[in-house]
Amino acid sequence: MAQAKGYTRNNGPLRYAHITGWGMAVPDTVMTNDDMAAIVETNDEWIRTRTGIRERRIANERESSATLGYKAATSALEVADVLPMDIDLIIVATSTAEHVFPSTANLIQDWLGASKAGAFDLAAACAGFVYAVNMATQAIRSGSIDTALVVGAETMSRIVDWTDRSTCILFGDGAGAIVLQGSDQEGGVLSAVLRSDGAGHDLLSVATPNVRELNGHTLGKMYMHGGEVFKFATRVVDESIRQVTEDAGITLSDIDLIIPHQANYRILQSAARKLNIDMDKFVSNLDRYGNTSAASIPIAMCEAIEQGRIRKDDHLVMVGFGGGLSWAAMCVRWGIPEPSQLQGNRLNRQRRRAVYLLARVRARWNRLRRAWNNVLRWSNPRNIRLMRLRRRANQQKLP
Ligand code: COA
Repeated sequence: MAQAKGYTRNNGPLRYAHITGWGMAVPDTVMTNDDMAAIVETNDEWIRTRTGIRERRIANERESSATLGYKAATSALEVADVLPMDIDLIIVATSTAEHVFPSTANLIQDWLGASKAGAFDLAAACAGFVYAVNMATQAIRSGSIDTALVVGAETMSRIVDWTDRSTCILFGDGAGAIVLQGSDQEGGVLSAVLRSDGAGHDLLSVATPNVRELNGHTLGKMYMHGGEVFKFATRVVDESIRQVTEDAGITLSDIDLIIPHQANYRILQSAARKLNIDMDKFVSNLDRYGNTSAASIPIAMCEAIEQGRIRKDDHLVMVGFGGGLSWAAMCVRWGIPEPSQLQGNRLNRQRRRAVYLLARVRARWNRLRRAWNNVLRWSNPRNIRLMRLRRRANQQKLP
């Protein structure tokens, strides 16, 4: 009997999903706490002492989650030295897509020229990146794919309520991406814990036009019950870290680095206390970026790599939490390749550039072709008559 294509490796050697590329992109515009104080009644001292945030990045009108995600993705492909047509799957974790559909992942797939990739967005708020890495890992481990691009990209500045001082001060914009590749070498993603508690759906939410009841909230703008979310976060971070390390077969003292979602420095301090782990083992960059939701973990990971804080065989733990309520943790043994050994193949770099250029030309050509076809269609005398009839019918319908 024929075997289902895509699962042929189920009978072969076990596959491991390794992080082989990474990249990040943040807008150039910096908004400090003092800038924030010009918009809402707040001050630098309050924001710093309650959250640890000093500044955040804000997207300009030409930037979106898709454009930032695309930039981060091209850097990740460069590090992994992967060609766009070799990507099998693109997952974008985001709560700030430009459209309900097409997905942000569809746009990034098109701009990259990743012609053989499936692409979709994943909505699990600030836990989205860990959820997405786990989905891609499962696809690699099952043998159905070899190479995945996972992006966390957000433009939170578009959905915060700029009149609500308790939420707008917390968030910022940015994107991070990783390339995951299958390998027979043991290691990579070791374990993951995904959890949800929908009973807390009303503690942190953004309503779309499909919402049944607005309950006094503003359509398309974030609502948050900060105190309750704080309590939830401090509870689940240490619980899920304990669970995921146990599942990976290691102890808390084996953890070399924790890359947590960057929501509030006090949440990280509380987790460090409960786990009895030194604060030095927690990556924190929220003083410079604030909370970038699904983008915060991959951005923090990129910076930790750049700072030489991640070495071969290190055990990393990522932990995300937020709207849903959703939370997720993941344990990774850093495997191939060693960051110092990475350098993109020059020929492949040129090929990637050519593919991106071709993708742009193709997108423009398709738009032009569609516009031209419309001109031809509506210059046909039969269609002109049809259009007149339709217009008349519409006018008669009007009161
Ligand atoms: N500047 C100055 N004062 C502010 C303020 C601001 N930006 N925001 C709120 N306040 C005021 C409140 O109005 C309140 O004043 P009152 O006592 O006169 O009523 C006071 O500060 C205390 O407010 P409170 O909400 O109790 O502050 P807090 O210590 O709980 O801190 C958060 C608020 C939002 C920083 C905190 O709850 C938090 O970080 N929660 C978690 C949020 C989070 O991480 N969300 C994302 C999860 S992914």
